Amino acid sequence: MLFASLSLALSGLATLASALDPIEVVGNKFFNKDGSQFFLKGVAYQLRPHDPLIDTEQCKRDASLMKELGVNSIRVYHVDASADHDGCMKAFDDAGIYLLIDLDTFDTYILPSNLHWNQTQHDDYADVMDTFQKYDNVLGFFVGNENIAHKEDSIAAPFIKAAARDMKAYRDKKNYRKIPIGYSAADIVELRPMLQNYLACGGETADIVDFFALNSYSWCDPADYKTSSYDMLESYAKNFPIPIFFSETGCNTPGPRLFADQDAVFGKDMINDWSGSIIYEWIQEENHYGLISYGPAGGDATNTDVEGGFTRKGTPTPVSPDFNNLKSKWATLKPTGVHKTDVDPKTLTTPSCPTSTSGGWWGIEGNVRLPSLGETMAGTFTSVPTATSDSQPQDSGKDGNDDKGKDGKDDKGKDKGKNAASKDMQITILGSSLAAVILFAAVAL
Ligand SMILES: *[C@@H]1O[C@H](CO)[C@@H](O)[C@H](O)[C@H]1NC(C)=O
Repeated sequence: MLFASLSLALSGLATLASALDPIEVVGNKFFNKDGSQFFLKGVAYQLRPHDPLIDTEQCKRDASLMKELGVNSIRVYHVDASADHDGCMKAFDDAGIYLLIDLDTFDTYILPSNLHWNQTQHDDYADVMDTFQKYDNVLGFFVGNENIAHKEDSIAAPFIKAAARDMKAYRDKKNYRKIPIGYSAADIVELRPMLQNYLACGGETADIVDFFALNSYSWCDPADYKTSSYDMLESYAKNFPIPIFFSETGCNTPGPRLFADQDAVFGKDMINDWSGSIIYEWIQEENHYGLISYGPAGGDATNTDVEGGFTRKGTPTPVSPDFNNLKSKWATLKPTGVHKTDVDPKTLTTPSCPTSTSGGWWGIEGNVRLPSLGETMAGTFTSVPTATSDSQPQDSGKDGNDDKGKDGKDDKGKDKGKNAASKDMQITILGSSLAAVILFAAVAL
């Protein structure tokens, strides 16, 4: 009896000891509880279009191999707020892995083609937050992923910012932990750095995102700090007031991937301003970004574990040489960063809200009033230049690798329907741009 309760107590202690402490944001950096800086070494994890955090056994198998790879964080694009996530959240916690979760669902995604941020979206986002806020290993929430997918789409930015404002207010009203709430942006050269500055500008803490994350495919090995245009990304991140990191990276053309960009991200050039990166992606599927696979491509159509020709469940097997390339690369990179008490907020600068410039694609004129909950968009904030029919840069050189990422993303299949919808809306926006300056007419529903 005594022995039993003693061992119970000990196992209780062991559980406590392995549990991760929440990560905290101070200035533009993430910190562990002991004050040391936290850098993301992450992977994108979405085995199927819907929630990958409900199959505990699968999470355990993946978490165990992720640990071997050196992963300390994952991002998940879609979850089901009504499902039970305890098993998977514990499996990742046990492996030392934090999670970033998208609050939007397939139905509530903010689309430039039909701009609104309303109560239905708010409540569905809130459901996801309610479900996940209780886990200490939740590192952050996204209010959207690549909603602005083309250079014509910048008019969606105030709605993204409004969503962040309202979800932060909801979090605080519910007295939840200050889980950071940010946005995961497509890297669109024409909107650099206006989008990141806009989401962090204005000087009202309640209105800005808590972090900015970038999906960038501009470093395609072999490349370097300059040819990849990471030097430009670094210049935009200097003294940025909130944390910034890569929420997707890992260009796979021509391949194999060497992950040399990780040397830059965790090296002297960027370490003071960037908080790490999330590699796209864990599972091998049609787009060939996978670090592991669960079986040969093809697969038996009668097998319910196969979707889109790829097995979505089972024992993860490293994809060679990419998995080992990343593993060895990360093993050499052990940044220490700064201590929490060394952050000097005075060194951080609130960016001014960008205005559109002639020939520029940024469509928001300075610090416009944010839409309130329920407002829709009946017009644009200001004009964009007369567009050519070519909406993507063809140049694959410096600052112009957007296309590679776009191509990859288009078949990623994680947001099917979204890209098609975004393409449709381009016509609408371009049409409205011809009318030069059109006022922002917000119509309360
Ligand atoms: C929000 O917008 C969606 C999509 O247009 C719509 O179905 C829903 O009814 C709206 N919700 C409210 C509260 O107006």
